[in-house]
Amino acid sequence: MSDQPILTATGITRRFGGITAVDQVNLHVHEGEFLSVIGPNGAGKTTLFNLISGQDRMNGGTVTLDGRDITNMRPHKMAEIGVARTFQHGRVFGNLTVMDNVLVGCHTRMKAARSSVPVVAPVLEILKALIRPASVRAEEEAMRAEAREIIATFGERLTPRIDNPTYSLSYANRRRVEIARALALHPRILILDEPTAGMNESETAEMQEIIAGLKAEGRTILLIEHKLNMVMQLSDRVMAMDNGRVISEGKPYEVRNDPKVIEAYLGHSTIGGGRPASGDPDEGSAVGVARTRCDAPVAGQFTLAGGSQ
Ligand SMILES: Nc1ncnc2c1ncn2[C@@H]1O[C@H](COP(=O)(O)OP(=O)(O)O)[C@@H](O)[C@H]1O
Ligand SMILES: [Mg+2]
Repeated sequence: MSDQPILTATGITRRFGGITAVDQVNLHVHEGEFLSVIGPNGAGKTTLFNLISGQDRMNGGTVTLDGRDITNMRPHKMAEIGVARTFQHGRVFGNLTVMDNVLVGCHTRMKAARSSVPVVAPVLEILKALIRPASVRAEEEAMRAEAREIIATFGERLTPRIDNPTYSLSYANRRRVEIARALALHPRILILDEPTAGMNESETAEMQEIIAGLKAEGRTILLIEHKLNMVMQLSDRVMAMDNGRVISEGKPYEVRNDPKVIEAYLGHSTIGGGRPASGDPDEGSAVGVARTRCDAPVAGQFTLAGGSQ
């Protein structure tokens, strides 16, 4: 892990009317680091990720990637410079096939690598697309080969469905496609918002294995996840949020055992769910034990897990 963080977010703030969803949050991630963000529903996790990845515009704060200011950069530009993300409720191009969804990621990366000379570059692109010289055909074939390889990361889940439109896939498979598309960007940083939401136990285990594989490749990963076992096993560092603020940060076991974190979760579950649940059937499965109105782990999950790593 290098000394300089890849990504630094400082003083990030986002208000929605009277609610400060994200309040002066600082975050940094080093190359090859795995940072998880946890916290009860409504803590501000997704909003924070939206701000970092350009899906939403912040009221205050700055974000840098490799020292370059990328505050409020448009999301497609973020993708081009290697900030890749998946969404809490999954987003794929439903009418495109599995292959084409992943090729979108490859094309975005290629576009970023090409000349950005105004007028000349787009005209050249059009000419190449019309004439399709051998170099273009070779590049397309290379991209397809790479897309197939990425798709194969998911074993037999996606490869047999490679030419199927993604609307015809199961929810879990659509989420896998989303990750495959993000990987096709060759991201500097991979941002995953609840990648196992809505997945059953075996699908979750399978996804955890895939994410562990990505970590083992040395990728830099930012994860929001409610399944604490997974967070404990994968993370180098954990940050806990509540009411838009960071309430704890450190080694996974330190954060898990931090009374402020336990209280944040318990507070939300014992007062009848705290913030209203979204109605999403995926939510409330915190650690796969109890479905509560919010996504709080039950108390025992913290205490019985013990103070050891
Ligand atoms: N687009 C929005 N408009 C208004 N309020 C929002 C919007 N997005 C999020 N919020 C509010 O911001 C708070 C944080 O939400 P969110 O970031 O989704 O939390 P988390 O991902 O931790 O569950 C919540 O109170 C939520 O209702
Ligand atoms: Mg969220």
